[in-house]
Amino acid sequence: MKRPHSTAALVAILGASACFAAPDRQATEAEAKRIVASFVGEVKPMLQGYMKARGPVGAVEGCAVDAPAIADRISESTGWEVGRVSLKPRNVDRGTPDAWETATLRQLEKKRNDGADASELNHGEWVEGRYRYMQAQIVEGVCLNCHGEALDPAVQSIIAEYYPEDSATGFSLGDIRGAVTLASPPGD
Ligand code: HEC
Repeated sequence: MKRPHSTAALVAILGASACFAAPDRQATEAEAKRIVASFVGEVKPMLQGYMKARGPVGAVEGCAVDAPAIADRISESTGWEVGRVSLKPRNVDRGTPDAWETATLRQLEKKRNDGADASELNHGEWVEGRYRYMQAQIVEGVCLNCHGEALDPAVQSIIAEYYPEDSATGFSLGDIRGAVTLASPPGD
């Protein structure tokens, strides 16, 4: 029987479509990485500034207001949805992952347990017409003040006041605390 396409023609067609798709994906992923970098680049100094000026108790209040505000402002200026989620969220309204984010966080946890470096702990893909991207955030020394095993009682009580449903404690150095999560503008 004669085949309508030779294997060589099929390879050529697939190869050509892969070439067309690649730059778009790369550009979108690069944009996602830039947005994560600008978000983290604002949140970290904000946190460090509060810690220095007001200690961890004051920093909780700062974080509670400033971190979501920074995410919202970057969302507005880029058109992308920007947020942070965790399998153990502190802010249950904003930080609870949806099904795709939960699956991605679990996949990143597995990668981490298999020894992946922090810089490799990201994942992006097109989901229902939007490019979704997550970058894990790793627990460093400063994070333990508010996400560690043994919190200062004053820190514990202000966290309980702001976040009665908090589950974001008990973390150790090097753990995945959560992730920055992005979705490209709808219809992009
Ligand atoms: C001074 C206390 C404090 C420190 C230090 C701190 N956080 Fe948080 N963290 C918070 C508060 C408060 C929230 C909830 C913010 C909100 O309402 O969106 C939060 C939320 C988060 C979230 C969003 C998901 C969730 O659970 O709501 C991530 C991710 C996160 N922190 C990671 C980190 C990492 C990584 C570090 C260290 C680099 C860190 N945090 C240090 C207080 C702190």
